[in-house]
Amino acid sequence: MLRLSEVHASYGAATVLHGVSIEMGAGETVALLGPNGAGKSTLLAAVTGTIRSRSGSIVFDGAEIVRAPAHRIVQAGVRLVPEGRLVFSPFSVEDNLRLGALRLEGELSERFDYVYRLFPRLAERKKQPAGTLSGGEQQMLAIGRALMSRPRLLLLDEPFLGLAPLVVHQIRSALEKLRASGLTLLIVEQKLDIALAFASRAYVLIKGAVVLHDTTADLVRRANLADLYLSLAPRG
Ligand SMILES: Nc1ncnc2c1ncn2[C@@H]1O[C@H](COP(=O)(O)OP(=O)(O)OP(=O)(O)O)[C@@H](O)[C@H]1O
Ligand SMILES: [Mg+2]
Repeated sequence: MLRLSEVHASYGAATVLHGVSIEMGAGETVALLGPNGAGKSTLLAAVTGTIRSRSGSIVFDGAEIVRAPAHRIVQAGVRLVPEGRLVFSPFSVEDNLRLGALRLEGELSERFDYVYRLFPRLAERKKQPAGTLSGGEQQMLAIGRALMSRPRLLLLDEPFLGLAPLVVHQIRSALEKLRASGLTLLIVEQKLDIALAFASRAYVLIKGAVVLHDTTADLVRRANLADLYLSLAPRG
């Protein structure tokens, strides 16, 4: 469903991705691990077309998208739940969701129902300004907004960051439902335990390069994984 081959990306003169190759099949849940500044969000930005890859190829569902404009990539079925949620604070929950729907007029009420069934908390807060929601509710809204356009590949950038264990659990079970429905998920996560428990395969990105990739079952068996991860990139 998604194949990145030798993707290089930079901000000005600073190269951030140094030839990254990643593959994922339809319906798979893959984790992208790595410390702060490794290039995880940049990789997602390259997939969604919000930054231009300098070289390499990104194929989604059989079509080359490395030069496609961002709105075409959304139309093709790729959606990002961005780091830090980025909901539109003054707008209501309902309006934030509507903004996620793009041009899906006919299906709009069906999509609202779908999101409200997944996150009943949002249904209770339809008219509430997004900026007054709790962190966990804002994360639910960010995921719900991305689901409004019926994506086939969902990219999640640190969806659990800063959330209490109970909310992490609620969002995890929502993501498990999405996975069970066949949605393909690429999840950026810094916490090894969450990522390894949730995904079937994982890539470890350090300084813009994939240093390790394997099934999560095999990664868990590598006793040195946590050491490698920590020694290569001490976190603050
Ligand atoms: N807009 C930008 N302009 C210039 N440099 C940037 C920009 N965005 C990110 N960078 C740099 O690119 C590198 C990778 O950043 P990126 O945000 O992709 O890392 P990350 O793995 O997502 O980190 P974190 O876990 O902290 O979110 C960092 O060195 C960062 O400073
Ligand atoms: Mg990031």
